[in-house]
Amino acid sequence: MSLGRVVVPRELLPAGLALLEDRCELVRGSLELTREEILALVAGADAVAPDLTVRVDDRFLDAAGPDLKVVANFAVGYDNIDLDACRGRGVAVTNTPDVLTNATAELALTLALSAARDLPAAERKLRAGEWQGWDPAEYRGFELAGSTVGIVGMGRIGSRFAELLAGFGVDLLYSSRRRKPQEEDRLGARRAGLEELLSKSDLVSLHLPASPENRHLINARTLALMKPTAILVNTGRGMLVDSVALAGALEAGRLGAAGLDVFEHEPEVAPELLAAPRTSLSPHIGSATYRARDLMSGLVARNVIAALSGEELLTRVV
Ligand code: 8YV
Repeated sequence: MSLGRVVVPRELLPAGLALLEDRCELVRGSLELTREEILALVAGADAVAPDLTVRVDDRFLDAAGPDLKVVANFAVGYDNIDLDACRGRGVAVTNTPDVLTNATAELALTLALSAARDLPAAERKLRAGEWQGWDPAEYRGFELAGSTVGIVGMGRIGSRFAELLAGFGVDLLYSSRRRKPQEEDRLGARRAGLEELLSKSDLVSLHLPASPENRHLINARTLALMKPTAILVNTGRGMLVDSVALAGALEAGRLGAAGLDVFEHEPEVAPELLAAPRTSLSPHIGSATYRARDLMSGLVARNVIAALSGEELLTRVV
């Protein structure tokens, strides 16, 4: 017997689809669907499995109707979901933590190293046939060894990023609402206030969720606290950084470089950022490894099945 109607408004990978196909009536949308088409598709769903581009608000929940039991988000972040609206209707919400921690931390490190050496600019020149031959003064960047790294948000991903840096010989600062004694003992990280962290760090990496109080945490004022050679990396959410202020700081030489995987109005990227010097950019691919995306898809499906079978949810948010 089918556990119920499960709507995937956009995409889920085979690792998750295979689990759902066997046990549920599976309704699949596509990456091309408009908002209105998604609202029509979710009607009568017992479970939905959206990704972070699908806004789950009162209108969505009304469209889904009273049978909806769970929103199983295909992401660890859930800023696309109105949690209070779900709570008010008794709809559970799950996410995909842990399985993407390492992938995202590795991308943060990739962007940090790429930004430190301005790899995109060097590659652009090479591809354009502008490489004139070896020049000792050209293409010089910075090394992480011996630098101070500031991690803003020492949750799962921030902590894994700190762990990856262990072999680089860096001093670690972190800012976090709570003290993290384990990271302090294990990695020698020292907790600092945001302003101290920003002013002392050669590399600042953001690992915070998108919450209203974190909006534009990095803005003209906080950018001015940073060293003019500092590198800013953001693999969290675009809204953490004021893009125009960041582009201005890069353009004016008041900031060393930036490595960005997330943007304020995805998939659009502020033209100021596209034009800014010393930026390494990637299109929101933090969790995009074969392993992480398969595990995320499986976790989404297992949460749906648990919710529809009346079992305990694996990774409950609400
Ligand atoms: C993407 C992420 O959202 O999990 C998150 O919060 O930002 C990324 O993993 C995900 O890959 C697409 O839903």
